[in-house]
Amino acid sequence: MKILLIGSGGREHALAWKIAASPLVTRLWCAPGNAGIAADAECVALDITDHAAVIAFCRQNAVEFVVVGPDAPIAAGMVDDLNAAGFKAFGPTQAAGRLESSKNFTKALCRANNIPTAAYEHFRDAAAARDHIRKQGAPIVVKADGLAAGKGVVVAMTEQKALAAVDMMFGGGLGASGTEVVIEEFMEGEEASFFALCDGEHALPLATAQDHKRAFDGDKGPNTGGMGAYSPAPVMTDAMCTRVMDEMVKPTLRAMKEMGCPYKGVLFAGVMITKDGPKLVEYNARFGDPETQVLMLRLMSDIVPALIASADGQLKNFSLRWYDETALTVIMATKGYPGDYGKGFVIEGLDEAARIEGVEIFHAGTKSGDGRILSNGGRVLNVCATGKSVTQAQQRAYAAVDRIKWPEGFCRRDIGWQAIEREKAKG
Ligand code: AMP
Ligand code: GLY
Repeated sequence: MKILLIGSGGREHALAWKIAASPLVTRLWCAPGNAGIAADAECVALDITDHAAVIAFCRQNAVEFVVVGPDAPIAAGMVDDLNAAGFKAFGPTQAAGRLESSKNFTKALCRANNIPTAAYEHFRDAAAARDHIRKQGAPIVVKADGLAAGKGVVVAMTEQKALAAVDMMFGGGLGASGTEVVIEEFMEGEEASFFALCDGEHALPLATAQDHKRAFDGDKGPNTGGMGAYSPAPVMTDAMCTRVMDEMVKPTLRAMKEMGCPYKGVLFAGVMITKDGPKLVEYNARFGDPETQVLMLRLMSDIVPALIASADGQLKNFSLRWYDETALTVIMATKGYPGDYGKGFVIEGLDEAARIEGVEIFHAGTKSGDGRILSNGGRVLNVCATGKSVTQAQQRAYAAVDRIKWPEGFCRRDIGWQAIEREKAKG
């Protein structure tokens, strides 16, 4: 089978690595890809916002299946356009992708279907939003309705911060994404990520993970796209996973089908384990980054039939096998990230690092130049390791990090701390 993968991040490198391992695959391209993905797929310099160009590539190369990685092409309707042109694609349609691309759509769906989530109100003007904040007080959470590259959520611990967020969003600080705003009750608890593969009707639970969103050790500093992750998340016990399936994923699929926009693809539920049980923080309509990197390391089965079954509506009797091990990833980012940072710095020692047992390195933002690997983004490398415990996986990952020579890079040194504390407590 000839497959085209869309995207260029660490998530796509992990997907490319796993897809390339399938005996079903005869050819794998990735558009646009990166220097690491080039080891697993043929990178093609397509402009992925140009759907006609992507379709033309599929026609020229008799592509049989397209896997769409990131949120932007899903929100832009790439799956719809590919399907209309006669190509099979993995991922939700634009209408189904509203579970991620519109906070208000998801909050209304939760309200209508009794899906546990933070109480909320939706606003189209700043004055009403400000009144609501003054009435509710802090802490409170202000969210732009649309996609905002991770900048659309302000968890305000003071009323003043919440009011400033409203002014920023309605003042055009996030462009069109901020013209509508959702204001939510602040939820307290431990966060985890839950992934289910969906085919429009059925959902197959995949695995759980925990992300580290803050830039610095001790969960300090600004929010980022994610500085590390591990899987499974110990807080997501079997009982908790069953609750998330029954109380969130299944009713969501039923509602989406009834609305005429059945959900196919990965449904990524960000959940907060509160004292009242699991509550939905948000849905994403795609694999997580960096969660996918650890998920793919734990997946024993061939992923390709599962992705096809999702697109074909054939997940009903499907099952996947997983390794019992823990997988952990440490993100190496360019100094300055998530603010301004430079590009084009030479990275050395990757081969030596990858020789450590259980270690796999995925590239997030790299390019090659003169036969060398150069940094080409904020989040640059995903140094991953598997192990019998989170403690062992973490030791291996940091041993690999220490072999990488890249003075302009940095990483957190405490990825996995919550799970490691639990392991220590157990003895
Ligand atoms: P989101 O993009 O909706 O996942 O929000 C980004 C992050 O903000 C989440 O991962 C949470 O850590 C935090 N967050 C979002 N909504 C809430 C809420 N209602 N209460 C507390 N924290 C929240
Ligand atoms: N790691 C969070 C996300 O992919 O949105």
